Amino acid sequence: MNQVVNEIQSYVKQKLEREGSGHDWYHIERVVKQARRIAKEEKANLFICEVAALVHDLADDKVASSEKAGLEEVEQLLLPLHKADRDHILEIITTMSFKGGNRPPVRTLEAKVVQDADRLDAIGAIGIARTFVYAGSKGDLIYDPSIQPRKHMSSSAYRHDQSTAINHFYEKLLKLKDLMNTRTGLEIAEERHAFLASFLTQFHGEWEGSK
Ligand code: ADP
Ligand code: NI
Repeated sequence: MNQVVNEIQSYVKQKLEREGSGHDWYHIERVVKQARRIAKEEKANLFICEVAALVHDLADDKVASSEKAGLEEVEQLLLPLHKADRDHILEIITTMSFKGGNRPPVRTLEAKVVQDADRLDAIGAIGIARTFVYAGSKGDLIYDPSIQPRKHMSSSAYRHDQSTAINHFYEKLLKLKDLMNTRTGLEIAEERHAFLASFLTQFHGEWEGSK
């Protein structure tokens, strides 16, 4: 099975090497690392968590031409796996995305682990960096005090409406800690969440001219 994981890893690496909206290979590598760490603590199936983390962004509409085409690609890639494992991994990657926060909770322990690992990469210092790269790639401003953060949004509004990098903290990032599925994920999220909060305090202080 190690050989299969290596082949999947090489495929994902060459595919996402130059991706420019924050889903590059190093994002995948960090998510795999956290997924392994959380899976060990939570006694989840390590193989399922590792492979799901490796392929989790291939069916994203920002990476694939469509979600359907992306999923077909992942299915091909996972053909050497047992059908039950393949189905489980496909379920994980189709149910784990945030998409505005309106999705139901994921079902299996392994899905919880991989979703936590992916969400951890959206907060803390790395999460802040990714947010500004993503906003830049969309042409959004750093901040615009006349645009209020949205409270409720459909997945299409979340993806396509104009927003700002700072609003994204209020629309998604600050919510992630309380959405953690596992105790281990929550423990890691606490420090990263505090870092986000302290960044925002400093940011607004500098913006107002009081810091
Ligand atoms: P998800 O699929 O979980 O909704 P994405 O894959 O869209 O999240 O997010 C990729 C990275 O870009 C994450 O770090 C995320 O927080 C950030 N991001 C997503 N949408 C925005 C946005 N509108 N503005 C700034 N950053 C964003
Ligand atoms: Ni991801």
